[in-house]
Amino acid sequence: MKSHQFLFLICLSFIVVGATGHGKGGYGLVRNFYRRSCPPAENLIRDITWSKVRSNAALGARLLRIHYHDCFVKGCDASILLNRVGNDPSEKEARPNFALSGFDVIDDIKTQVEKVCPGVVSCADILALSARDAVSYPFQRPMWDVLTGRRDGRTSLASDTNGNLPSAFANFTNLQQLFASKGLNVNDLVALSGAHTIGVAHCGAFSRRLFNFTGKDDMDPSLDPIYGEQLKKICPLPTNAATIVEMDPHSSLSFDKNYFNILLKKKGLLQSDAALLTDKKSARIVRQLQSPRTFFRAFGISMINMGAIEVLTGTNGEIRRNCRVINS
Ligand code: HEM
Ligand SMILES: *[C@@H]1O[C@H](CO)[C@@H](O)[C@H](O)[C@H]1NC(C)=O
Ligand SMILES: *[C@@H]1O[C@H](CO)[C@@H](O)[C@H](O)[C@H]1NC(C)=O
Repeated sequence: MKSHQFLFLICLSFIVVGATGHGKGGYGLVRNFYRRSCPPAENLIRDITWSKVRSNAALGARLLRIHYHDCFVKGCDASILLNRVGNDPSEKEARPNFALSGFDVIDDIKTQVEKVCPGVVSCADILALSARDAVSYPFQRPMWDVLTGRRDGRTSLASDTNGNLPSAFANFTNLQQLFASKGLNVNDLVALSGAHTIGVAHCGAFSRRLFNFTGKDDMDPSLDPIYGEQLKKICPLPTNAATIVEMDPHSSLSFDKNYFNILLKKKGLLQSDAALLTDKKSARIVRQLQSPRTFFRAFGISMINMGAIEVLTGTNGEIRRNCRVINS
C-alpha cells in the first residue's frame, strides 16, 4: 500500500469512529491500532483467551465483567487491574468488585504479549480485546470490531468506584442516569444488560427480593412467584455468602438472547434486570432484542460505545509493563 493510501485509511477510520462512538471521550481509538507496532497482538490475545475459555467456560463471563467494571470507573484505563499502593485499597478491593475474578488470565496474556512486543500493547486494550474474544469463542469469529489505542491509567482507588457502578437494586431512573453519565443511552443500557445471558450472581445480590420485600412477608411482585420459590430454596436465610445462581438458568455459559426471553417471563434475577421493563421505551427495546441477530448487533455496537468511555490516548497515561503495577 502506498503511504498516502495508508494515511487516507487512517483518516477514514478516525472519521468513522468519531461519527459512531458516542461514548464519553474515546475519539482517539481506531481499528487495528497495533497493525504496525505489534502485528501479532490481536491474534495472540484471541488465541490465549480462546484456549483459557476452552478449558474453563466460566471465564468468559468473568473477562467480560472486568472490562465493564474497568470502563465505568475512571474510564477504560485498566485501573481495575492495579494492586494497591501503600494503605489505600485499590479499585478491585472495593465492595462492588468483590466477585471479580480472571485477573490471572490477563496477566498470562500480558506476559506473552510483552515477550513479542515489549512495552507496546496496553492492559486496557488487552481487557477490551479479551472481553470480545471471550464472548466470541463459541462462535469462533469476532462478534464485533474492538477499537484500540487505549493507554493505561496510573491510579486506582477503591473510593473511585463510589457511585460509578450501578447497584443490583437500582431502579430504571438510577440506571438510565448512571449510563447517561458515561455517555451511554437506553439502547446501550438494555443491550449491555444482555451480558447477563452469561455468568452467575451470589444470593446476596437478589435475596432481598425473595423475603419480606415490602415488609409484608412477601416477594418482589416483579419476580415470577414460582421462580421465586425455587430461588428461596437455593438461597435460604441466613444468606450463604458462597452460593451462586446462574443469571440465565440452564444457559449461563451460552451467549444467546435468552436473557431477554426470561426477563419478559419475570425471571430476570436482579432488580436492575427487572427494572428494564418498568420504562416504556426500555421495555420496547427488550422485546426488539428477542431476535438473536438484532441482539448480537446491538450488543457489539454498545460494547464499542462502552469501550470508549473516558479513554486515555495519545501521550496520556502509559503502556504498563505489568498490568498490576504502574511503571516506575
Ligand atoms: C445495568 C447495570 C448492571 C448491574 C446492576 C449489574 C449487576 C451485576 C451483579 C450484582 C452481578 C452478580 C455479581 C455476583 O454476585 O457475583 C453481575 C454479574 C455479571 N455482570 Fe452485571 N450488572 C450490570 C450491567 C452489566 C454490564 C453492562 C455488563 C457487561 C457488558 C455486565 C456483565 C456481567 C457479567 C458477565 C456477570 C457475571 C460474572 C461472572 O459470572 O463471574 N453487567 N452483574
Ligand atoms: C429510584 O430510586 C431513587 C433512589 O435511589 C428514588 O429517589 C426514586 O424515586 C426512584 N424512582 C422511581 C421511579 O421509583
Ligand atoms: C418483615 O418486615 C416488617 C416491616 O419491616 C417487620 O416488622 C417484620 O418483623 C418482618 N418479618 C420478618 C419475618 O422478618
